[in-house]
Amino acid sequence: MVRYGHFDDRTREYVIDRPDTPLPWINYLGSEEYFGLISNTAGGYSFYRDARLRRLTRYRYNSAPLDVGGRYLYLRDDTTGDYWSPSWQPTRRELDEYECRHGLSYTTISSARTGIRAETLYYVPLGETLEVWRVAVTNERDTTADLSLFSSVEFCLWDAQDDATNYQRNFSTGQVEVDDGVIYHKTEYRERRDHFAFFACSEPIEGFDTQREAFLGPYRGWEAPIAVERGSLSGSIAHGWSPVGNHHVRLSLEPGETREVIFVLGYAENPRDDKFDPPHSQIINKLRVRPKIAHWLQPSAVKAGFDALTRHWTALLGGLQVSTPDPDTDRMVNIWNAYQCMITFNLSRSTSGFETGIGRGMGFRDSNQDLLGFVHIIPERARERILDIAATQIATGGAYHQYQPLTKRGNNDIGDGFNDDPLWLILGVSAYLKETGDASILDEPVPFDNAPGSEVSLYEHLIRSLTYTLDRLGPHGLPLIGRADWNDCLNLNCFSETPGEPFQTTENVSGGQAESVFIAGQFVLAAKELASIADLRGLGEKAAEYRAAAEKMTGTIVEHGWDGAWFRRAYDFHGNPIGSGENDEGQIFVEPQGMCVLAGVGLDDGLAARALDSVAERLATPHGVVLQQPAYSRYHVELGEISTYPPGYKENAGIFCHTNPWIMIAETIAGDGDRAFDYYRRINPSARESISEVHRCEPYVYAQMIAGKDAPTHGEAKNSWLTGTAAWNFVAITQWILGLRPELDGLRIDPVLPRAWNGFVATRVYRSATYEITVRKPIGVTGRVTQLVVDGSPVDGTVIPPAPAGTTVRVEAVIG
Ligand code: GLC
Ligand code: GLC
Repeated sequence: MVRYGHFDDRTREYVIDRPDTPLPWINYLGSEEYFGLISNTAGGYSFYRDARLRRLTRYRYNSAPLDVGGRYLYLRDDTTGDYWSPSWQPTRRELDEYECRHGLSYTTISSARTGIRAETLYYVPLGETLEVWRVAVTNERDTTADLSLFSSVEFCLWDAQDDATNYQRNFSTGQVEVDDGVIYHKTEYRERRDHFAFFACSEPIEGFDTQREAFLGPYRGWEAPIAVERGSLSGSIAHGWSPVGNHHVRLSLEPGETREVIFVLGYAENPRDDKFDPPHSQIINKLRVRPKIAHWLQPSAVKAGFDALTRHWTALLGGLQVSTPDPDTDRMVNIWNAYQCMITFNLSRSTSGFETGIGRGMGFRDSNQDLLGFVHIIPERARERILDIAATQIATGGAYHQYQPLTKRGNNDIGDGFNDDPLWLILGVSAYLKETGDASILDEPVPFDNAPGSEVSLYEHLIRSLTYTLDRLGPHGLPLIGRADWNDCLNLNCFSETPGEPFQTTENVSGGQAESVFIAGQFVLAAKELASIADLRGLGEKAAEYRAAAEKMTGTIVEHGWDGAWFRRAYDFHGNPIGSGENDEGQIFVEPQGMCVLAGVGLDDGLAARALDSVAERLATPHGVVLQQPAYSRYHVELGEISTYPPGYKENAGIFCHTNPWIMIAETIAGDGDRAFDYYRRINPSARESISEVHRCEPYVYAQMIAGKDAPTHGEAKNSWLTGTAAWNFVAITQWILGLRPELDGLRIDPVLPRAWNGFVATRVYRSATYEITVRKPIGVTGRVTQLVVDGSPVDGTVIPPAPAGTTVRVEAVIG
């Protein structure tokens, strides 16, 4: 049992107490326009809005050693010449003490060596496009300490993709200015860019460098810069090559003395016609940025900004707080899972330790699902996000699979044809309506493909989504899968034999009739949701129509999608079943078991219970539920990317965590709180903290994947942070296991708890009223709510109609 740290629930921090975590354990800075990634050893980078197009600093993915590039500081004892990094990296010289605290949008790293303590706080003030590093250096020796403090960042020439590839140009374009101790990075400012970066220090500086080679010295790395070794910077000005920012501050500290030094790294823009000062020069006009820099270099401003950030998070998280018998549940629900949901809102799948920021934009299906995890925290921004997403739908009802956050336009490289995509819009909108009651969103005019003049109501978009499926049914009456459904790697019309061919956009066969049982289940769910929305609009006839369509599809699933003991996964191009006992590999898949039961298929005739038993028997492992079994041991050309992964990884029988909450929810629908909660705990990162040496990723956030039982590294997580797992687990635990479930007509209280619990208490803000909820249950008992008392009066059923905004409602529920 190896631990690398512990949770501090009171301060809402994860405390890492040794720097050599199995992988960089990261956190995020920023919440609006300026963002950064920061590891427990100060690795990471920053960007403005778009991690690809406006990258401020460099980072080297997949590097050796791990985690190269960051917000580095060096301390040097000017008496002995000894130097080290207070964040351990990049020098990796031994520290006598080390502690990193990752908090909500900030990180502190503290350490001590030879009696010199340094504590650095990193955060992005709300409303600003800059980051603050506040370093407190303390002399704990009994003699005066003569020290040098060096700062270090390496600038990225803005476009991170180009920066990492186009050296023939980029080695000649780099430009900086140094003015009043502030280092300005202004590559391409002379021409078409109106933005620049700045790096400032609160203390008078002894020197600076801006050319990487001058700082590091030839053939040296960040672990041993020649300038730090020597104890002085050379005042280099970068012309081309690699612009960096280094300050040198001298500190002479009496015994016991502490000095605070503040560094500010940021992004600024100027109006195009006012870029230069004097106007016809090539010098950056610093009129607007100077006051900002001056402000944030003041200790009082840094403290006030940090307090504001803390209050901000308290307010965001305050809308749902629970106290259950399980501390791992509490800290995930109250702090970390909610935080992760906000990070996925901000960054989708763009920037993490595994996503380089230059890959995908926003996913249509991903963003709709991410909504489920943050709609209760920031409903206005969920509204905005829904309208952005819907505007990338095309008139056929199909949807661009991805869109760019900067332009909000559908991405032509990948296009449409992922046939599950449109249905997620219905599920996203329905979650928004249930949370907020804001039916006005349905009447918002929204274009197709962002084309002006093509606007129809959002409600009409939802109808198109449903029709899209109905217009594309295959030979069994099941929905055609298109390029893929939720499982991006089930590419049934691809048949690729050529290395490098993209599985998701290549169709080497035409007239594909491959069908998806997953989409069928998702359709049933979406049709029922749309029926309720139609009812809300007084369109009873339409509602009946959608319910009939759901019922018909349910019949089709039972007839053609049932394999005897579980739901099948799909039919391939040739009409052969996938996820069937008839197959030699890939006999049972998790996705249709989850989605069909969520949709209510098989609840009356025992199929759902049978399917869930099959999941328990064939797919469950101690580390979570694997995606399918048996894993594909060889390449199946007719299946696409799924069988390209070695057994046990990713979509080939990995524990693809996103799907696990579907099973948890299905178990609660079937009434089994023990199984639901057991599955919940298996992948709960906090509950896995004690096996960090196996899990390896951060114990405070979900990872997309944990290696499955066929993998030699079973239990090892990868792709932490940016995953639909965050939103779905939040939904599974809060809405289904704890059972605090927003519905169109009110808040439902319907917990399905494990036998071992005696209840829980919760505070839930819902449509601006506060619900103080107590659920009681005898230990050892299972079952549903038998008695619900609202403000002292017993009520029928389990739905509490919305209370007036600003009021507090006391809710007592009894189970069993
Ligand atoms: C990734 C994608 C998601 C997809 C899943 C399964 O998480 O972001 O859209 O559903 O993989 O392939
Ligand atoms: C790859 C990944 C899959 C992801 C997809 C998104 O196929 O394996 O998980 O969803 O890329 O582009």
